[in-house]
Amino acid sequence: MVSDFVNEPFLNLTDEQVVTHFKKALEQVGSQLGGNYPLIINGEEIYTEEKITSLNPSLSDQVVGYVAKASLEQAELALSSAEKAFGTWSKVKPQERAEYLFKAAAIMRERKYELSSWLIYEAGKNWAEADADTAEAIDFLEFYAREMHRLASPQPLVKIPGEQNELVYLPLGVGVVIPPWNFPLAIMAGMTAAAIVAGNTVVLKPASNTPVIAAIFMNILKEVGLPEGVVNYLPGSGGTIGDFLVSSPKTRFINFTGSKEVGLRINELAAKMVAGQRHIKRVTAEMGGKDCIVVDNTADIEAAATAIVASSFGFQGQKCSACSRAIIVKDVYDQVVQLVVQKAAQLTIGTAVENYPVGPVTDKSSLNRIKSYIETGKNEGDLLLGGNTLESMGGYYIEPTIFGNVSPNAVIAQEEIFGPVLAVIKADDFNQALEIANNTEYGLTGALFSQDRSHLERARSEFHVGNLYFNRKCTGALVGVHPFGGFNMSGTDSKAGGRDYLLLFTQAKVVSEKL
Ligand code: NAD
Ligand code: ALA
Repeated sequence: MVSDFVNEPFLNLTDEQVVTHFKKALEQVGSQLGGNYPLIINGEEIYTEEKITSLNPSLSDQVVGYVAKASLEQAELALSSAEKAFGTWSKVKPQERAEYLFKAAAIMRERKYELSSWLIYEAGKNWAEADADTAEAIDFLEFYAREMHRLASPQPLVKIPGEQNELVYLPLGVGVVIPPWNFPLAIMAGMTAAAIVAGNTVVLKPASNTPVIAAIFMNILKEVGLPEGVVNYLPGSGGTIGDFLVSSPKTRFINFTGSKEVGLRINELAAKMVAGQRHIKRVTAEMGGKDCIVVDNTADIEAAATAIVASSFGFQGQKCSACSRAIIVKDVYDQVVQLVVQKAAQLTIGTAVENYPVGPVTDKSSLNRIKSYIETGKNEGDLLLGGNTLESMGGYYIEPTIFGNVSPNAVIAQEEIFGPVLAVIKADDFNQALEIANNTEYGLTGALFSQDRSHLERARSEFHVGNLYFNRKCTGALVGVHPFGGFNMSGTDSKAGGRDYLLLFTQAKVVSEKL
């Protein structure tokens, strides 16, 4: 009997003992930086001549690890390995498959300080963000293991006399898992775990900015005895091996999370039938966002401002759920803006290891992209805070940046910036605010601050996003509590961490026997 799911609690970072543990783990992980990590295909470790160098975004000359870089031949080998392993893994009892996830979650819980420390070094997350990422990874494993138990139990069907009917969920086959770098443990582990617990085998192509934490996850899967070939670890260039993996006739499904551009490309490539292919490829694609927080004239202004700052600048705005637009009705506009600027101005900037509230963005090209949006913003609104990059600090730092009086159709109000840049938009009234909120091609998260029940109820039906929050921030979805996924160009609304998720990696078979 499996216990009920409960979310992994976050660490209390004001507890001295917790701080001591964290510092020790950071020191230990710090002494392991610069290691070499091989590809893992059918359990075999393969070192390659060409490598991906994973850097610490807080101190960009510090190498976190050197990771093997797969060639097309190795990509083909990884797919063949997954195909071979599917023959046996798909026949392992679902409850037994779930057991591997439970065991891996237990190890991750035991090693959470260490895992979070890797995230701090490799992703530039501060302690709380890293701890939340690790906790979410544990949650995904615990949740999907239980989900597999549920799907493996007898499924309710309408009974008719003279027949015995049964519906079972079967795996699909070989999958390609392509996660992003921004939740490099949680999303990577969740996307992988869901696919394999459902009986599939996968090629995991980690994001090139964060392949080391994925290699450490692979070690945990090895430690729990996951059979060889069930997860094949294949770091490499997205454009080169990504296209190849997606186009292969061996690939039955693609589980992607990342940008709109790459998601749409994968969707297009996967739709083309190639020689030897006997199935329609299934694509799960979770993509970007242009999320907003709406504040009406009845809102708790203080709470709204706090939520806007947390959602806009937490992890430097590098969350698909981040608030990049604050839409404020004119009656309270000045008050809210003043508070938001005041609170954001208090955020100090520095390394993730030293646990500054604002750390670096992920890499040089992100820094340049965000910088260019800031330049665009200078022509589109009033610069109220920030606007500078701080390259002399030794990492990829950008000041929390706020533009006021931005038009709803401005570039910085329409395109995903994926950095610490907030566009504040003034609305005449709640009607217009809602219109502006929906005036985007995306539809991932949104929040409304209001004490007016009629406004909340209108938003419930008309605010078109996959995850809508009332009177709270628009980031920080919890597994099982807030199944996560977006509408429109934000993706396929797969609802990670929810009861619909595993179905994406299964096919249902019905057997009818005449009695
Ligand atoms: P990205 O699209 O650049 O990369 C995502 C992954 O795709 C990486 O592993 C990358 O190597 C790979 N890739 C690149 N080109 C490829 C190709 N041609 N074929 C196959 N794979 C390819 O995104 P990113 O910069 O890693 O992540 C940031 C983006 O992810 C943002 O847009 C963010 O909103 C989005 N995101 C969405 C969610 C969600 O749940 N909706 C969650 C996290 C991040
Ligand atoms: N699931 C993450 C959040 O809600 C992206 O912030």
